[in-house]
Amino acid sequence: MSTAKKEYKRITVKTLVDMKANGEKISMLTAYDYTMAKIVDGAGIDIILVGDSASNVMAGHETTLPITLDQMIYHASSVVRAIDRALVVVDLPFGSYQSDPKEALRSAIRIMKESGAHSVKMEGGKEIKESIKRILNAGIPVMGHLGLTPQSIYKFGTYTVRAKEEQEALNLIEDAQMLERIGCFGIVLEKIPAKLAKKVAESVSIPIIGIGAGNGVDGQVLVLHDMLGMTHEFNPRFLRRYLNLYEDMTKAISKYVDDVKSLEFPNDNEQY
Ligand code: KIV
Repeated sequence: MSTAKKEYKRITVKTLVDMKANGEKISMLTAYDYTMAKIVDGAGIDIILVGDSASNVMAGHETTLPITLDQMIYHASSVVRAIDRALVVVDLPFGSYQSDPKEALRSAIRIMKESGAHSVKMEGGKEIKESIKRILNAGIPVMGHLGLTPQSIYKFGTYTVRAKEEQEALNLIEDAQMLERIGCFGIVLEKIPAKLAKKVAESVSIPIIGIGAGNGVDGQVLVLHDMLGMTHEFNPRFLRRYLNLYEDMTKAISKYVDDVKSLEFPNDNEQY
């Protein structure tokens, strides 16, 4: 298996399927605004997810349910303006695709047309199959999302690991194979046992991107603000923090406050 980072001018859905075939792991992070997306894209990420986690991270809601299609389009278009290389995937928000396939297609078209993004992501399996097919038939690439699907949090009741029981695990494998069969280009698997995630990845030829799903899958995704340590109250076992920006930013801002109060800022060189 290759661990080398290949040079790609632009990541497409085909690039991702080729990466899996070549054993090259896929990196994915969220971004919701221009400035962050510019940094993430410049650092060489393969996929930027404009996740509905913006509902929590950017807007401070307790769940992903309140974010609207208009708000997702606003975030997605800000991200798209920053991108030179990464593939941009945008979550269809709760309520924009569950009722019927026609509405689902209308929502997906709005995202593609108004934001310039490259694909959409949808949570669920069999129950949304017809909606996914309708969107795929319109030429819009779709990424699936199975396992813990936060838009169904009130059905689950908790954010704990999914598919520990045999029947749920079997259903999940069936759903993943169905998503591949109808034409999805990839699937996010969230918070399921690593052994099951590996089995799913081995049973399909489209990329499986894990979050809390171990390293037997084809790539990893994290929420940017979590991995940078900007958030500090969310501490699941799967989260690795690469920085502690909460602490660093708090220190910098406190220092600025002190400098303003003490007339330390601005100094002679910082004025006209
Ligand atoms: O919205 C999001 O950030 C996501 C990831 C957790 C995969 O769907």
